Amino acid sequence: MTKPVLFSGMQPSSDSLHLGNYVGALTNWVKLQEEGDAIYCVVNQHAITSKFEPEQLRERTLTTAAQYIAAGIDPDKSILYVQSDVPAHAQLAWILGTMTGFGEAGRMTQFKDKSQRFGAEATTVGLFTYPVLMAADILLFQADQVPVGDDQRQHIELTRTLAERFNSRYGETFTVPEGFIPEVSARVYDLQEPTAKMSKSAASDAGLLRILDPANVTKKKIMRAVTDADGEIRVDREAKPGVSNLLGIHSVLTGRALDEIVAEYEGRGYGDLKKGLVEVVEATFAPIRERTEELLGDRGELMRLLAQGAERAAERADATLRLVHERIGFPIGAAR
Ligand code: TYM
Repeated sequence: MTKPVLFSGMQPSSDSLHLGNYVGALTNWVKLQEEGDAIYCVVNQHAITSKFEPEQLRERTLTTAAQYIAAGIDPDKSILYVQSDVPAHAQLAWILGTMTGFGEAGRMTQFKDKSQRFGAEATTVGLFTYPVLMAADILLFQADQVPVGDDQRQHIELTRTLAERFNSRYGETFTVPEGFIPEVSARVYDLQEPTAKMSKSAASDAGLLRILDPANVTKKKIMRAVTDADGEIRVDREAKPGVSNLLGIHSVLTGRALDEIVAEYEGRGYGDLKKGLVEVVEATFAPIRERTEELLGDRGELMRLLAQGAERAAERADATLRLVHERIGFPIGAAR
């Protein structure tokens, strides 16, 4: 039996990945690379749809790649590379863009949210077509599964629609991918606003746990997390979103059942629950932080790994692009 092909990526749009990225995606990437033919990308072309500084973007791209490896992505088992090193992404995105309805793209909730936040001036055509580029990323590799957090559901749905549309117009070409979205705790919530997802673009930084933050910063944020007044430790996402989020994070990071954790803290105060969580989060983050530092200490080696990944990725992406060109009637040029 052939191994399922997996593709996923994260934007290098922050100095560090956060707990939501880790729980919602990265931990699954690490597990899935054992059973699948995995391709993991640092999607820097997506990152330029929001405000950025070139030097900072360069640094963040390397730091993101280093965090993938530090969290357990093995560049020998998986293909690990930077999106802009493989031109086929942009080439396929152009073609898919001509098959995407204006209204269809306009219905993407992330576009609606972001364009509202950015305002008319900063809302670019690139932000609008962002999901089309994401579809190209996935379809280029004929991915079977896309391990992502819950917030990417709609983008995966559009990817499936575009694959089916292309296949029905031009003949079987693309694998129609499935999202691989963890059921339990697929969504990590903001510590200050526990009904909103944890996100780098939240209004306040206090609710965001970053992998590379110093331990004392993370500790302070957890100890100040919003809870509620009734003082009881139990899971109730509606009535007790803050406490439920802390319990959910505890459970997903330790791999222990929620009930077990609730039982452990029964009759104790929120302070105890938070102290316990500080230890659990630190035990997860500290080794990743140290390994990331080490990897960034030898940039030559990191760049070499990424170049090698790009070469392997390009070979596969180009094969799909050639097929697409053939299907839609582009001549295959002498260069190929
Ligand atoms: P990005 O960079 O915003 O996030 C990276 C991954 O982290 C997940 N995630 C979360 N999961 C659970 N709880 C949260 N609070 C949370 N916040 C973020 C995201 O679901 C994602 O899996 N469009 C994508 C990047 C992308 C991509 C792709 C992904 C571009 N091309 C192709 C898969 C395949 C994004 O912006 O992710």
